[in-house]
Amino acid sequence: MTRRHAVDLEKLAFPVEGSPREKLIFALHAAILAPSGHNTQPWIFRLHANSVDIRADRRRRLAVIDPQDRELTISCGAALLNIRVALEAHGLGCKVNLLPDEADADLLANIELTDAPEPGPLARLWPAIPRRHTHRLPFTDRQVEPDVLWALQEAGLAEGCRFLPLTGDLKNEAIGLIGEVDVRVATDPIYRQALDRWLSSHIESDGVQVAEGIEITILDDFAASLPRWLMRFKGNGQARGERDQELARRAPLLALVASPGDTVCHWLMAGQGLQRVLLEGVLAGVQASYLNQPLELPDTRAWLARWTSGTTPHLMLRMGYPEHDHRSPPRRPLKDLLEEAP
Ligand SMILES: Cc1cc2nc3c(=O)[nH]c(=O)nc-3n(C[C@H](O)[C@H](O)[C@H](O)COP(=O)(O)O)c2cc1C
Repeated sequence: MTRRHAVDLEKLAFPVEGSPREKLIFALHAAILAPSGHNTQPWIFRLHANSVDIRADRRRRLAVIDPQDRELTISCGAALLNIRVALEAHGLGCKVNLLPDEADADLLANIELTDAPEPGPLARLWPAIPRRHTHRLPFTDRQVEPDVLWALQEAGLAEGCRFLPLTGDLKNEAIGLIGEVDVRVATDPIYRQALDRWLSSHIESDGVQVAEGIEITILDDFAASLPRWLMRFKGNGQARGERDQELARRAPLLALVASPGDTVCHWLMAGQGLQRVLLEGVLAGVQASYLNQPLELPDTRAWLARWTSGTTPHLMLRMGYPEHDHRSPPRRPLKDLLEEAP
């Protein structure tokens, strides 16, 4: 099976003299580096003369884990933020229209190119896009400094979201929930089957089998590089719960990402807020990983919502400074994700 990683952004030349369409395609190389739940990459891009649509690819939905397509939409929001960053970093502006057609629920956003008289505030995040990875290993003991924490909170706010660090009793309660939910989902065969679908799965592209989802090799690398204190947690849901709890306990930073409501539009905001926080973190050397299970079950999500002052929590992140860089799983080839507007 072929492993295809996305184009190396650092080597990709921006088509300064190119057409709007070529400039948009350049930005889409950045879009597909966005994180997505279980690396489902649930997006399709429809090209117009001067704009591009982000469309939900619901063939890739996680019906059991994400029945409302909330995480699917958040992932598309993260891809949208990357497009905005790519355009601003190359002297272009854009007008973003969220959910532009009520009759077409798959059409999540349209991004239209505009002139940009001034460089925008997102441009500085460009170098962070290819350097961001979900870091599944433990972090070093180094604490996240107050100025970095402040920058992460500002990044969330800039997208209308909240980035809420969990400390003291809230951190302890969150750790308790993580363990409880791990045991619940591990003993649910439907839930397990739904997760396994995305482990080492593949698709066909140009007659070649291409890896997608989360490769088992990444998890093997993960297992091989676990420090001794984590090696003792293997196997069943109980042990997995204890491992996740230990990862959370030792995390320099545990935080929630929340948006002001729970509509599709708010999910797109949450995706943009998430990605802005992640990229801001990368500029400071901070990476993130997800402990999202408590936000995937309605009762535990409702419990966590008591802490987010009227906003709706979507993601729980474990953040810190990684010891080594960690690679991302492969991406679907961009050409397979492009559609021409009729
Ligand atoms: C909405 C959303 C939910 C996610 N949930 C989880 C999760 O529960 N557990 C996890 O390990 N990773 C989770 N991830 C991270 C993805 O697995 C990861 O983004 C994907 O494998 C691509 O890898 P990369 O982030 O290194 O590019 C989530 C990502 C997003 C955007």
